[in-house]
Amino acid sequence: MTIYLNGQYMPIEEARISVLDRGFIFGDGIYEVIPVYARRAFRLEEHLHRLQHSLDGIKLANPHNNAEWTRIIEELIANNASEDQYLYLHITRGVARRDHAFPRPPVSPTIFMMSNPLPAPPTALLQSGIACITAPDNRWLRCDIKAIALLPNVLLRQMAVDAGCAETILIRHDSLTGNEFMTEGAASNIFVVKNGVLLAPPKDNLMLPGITYDVVLELAASNGIPHQVRRIGVAEVVEADELLLTSSTKEVLPITLLDGKAVGSGTPGAMFDRLHALYQNFKRDVMRGNRD
Ligand code: PDD
Repeated sequence: MTIYLNGQYMPIEEARISVLDRGFIFGDGIYEVIPVYARRAFRLEEHLHRLQHSLDGIKLANPHNNAEWTRIIEELIANNASEDQYLYLHITRGVARRDHAFPRPPVSPTIFMMSNPLPAPPTALLQSGIACITAPDNRWLRCDIKAIALLPNVLLRQMAVDAGCAETILIRHDSLTGNEFMTEGAASNIFVVKNGVLLAPPKDNLMLPGITYDVVLELAASNGIPHQVRRIGVAEVVEADELLLTSSTKEVLPITLLDGKAVGSGTPGAMFDRLHALYQNFKRDVMRGNRD
């Protein structure tokens, strides 16, 4: 695997980073995951826009403009074998003597990028669906920043794995109103389906604005599928007809078991079938084609 580190391409075994890197010491950095179909980065502009939002959120200057990022990303894609890849792009505040406050004067950020093959979701998963658990969303209040400090997400995902499940759906408790509502998954966005309506939580500070989430809502809008973007109460999750999970690496997956109970019929439902078919067509015509 060829990776990119601070201006150079090299085999991953040769990559070296200082133990004083603020990413290592503090988790002081942000990242992106960008899917590549037929050697073309999907929605690169949107991913770079979200990257800028994350950098702004942690007050770190963007080390490259979009033309430079595009060139680096295209070179990395060309340097790796798979037609379909997913790129991991990681920027930290750089190497400095350990001090919580930002280094003054600023030091060069550390920029790391790697590519992995992007497999299509296994057919068995699409047919059976996945099992999830729910857990309190105990993360911070800037979940819109794609921060590399992922310890809460790691622990929440591990809860699912320990329960023999694929993902943890996060429930945020609003201590002012006493309301409990769904935000997202530990590393994914979640949609609820009730009475033929696709429900999506709003893109606010409590969830990561997913690029796949946008695609699913766009497909719903352009195909006349009823949909609403609004707060989704915990009862609506528990009583859902269908639950769907999205991410750049998982596409769209049906959730058929939640906290040990069947979701709706316990099999992937009509909304999943429809959106999955639309997503596959979109992948063929747009992601693998030459259109955005
Ligand atoms: N995670 N919410 C969270 C907390 C995520 O970590 C992710 C993606 C998403 C979905 O966003 P998108 O559709 O842009 O992939 C939502 C990536 C895949 C990861 O951390 O590996």
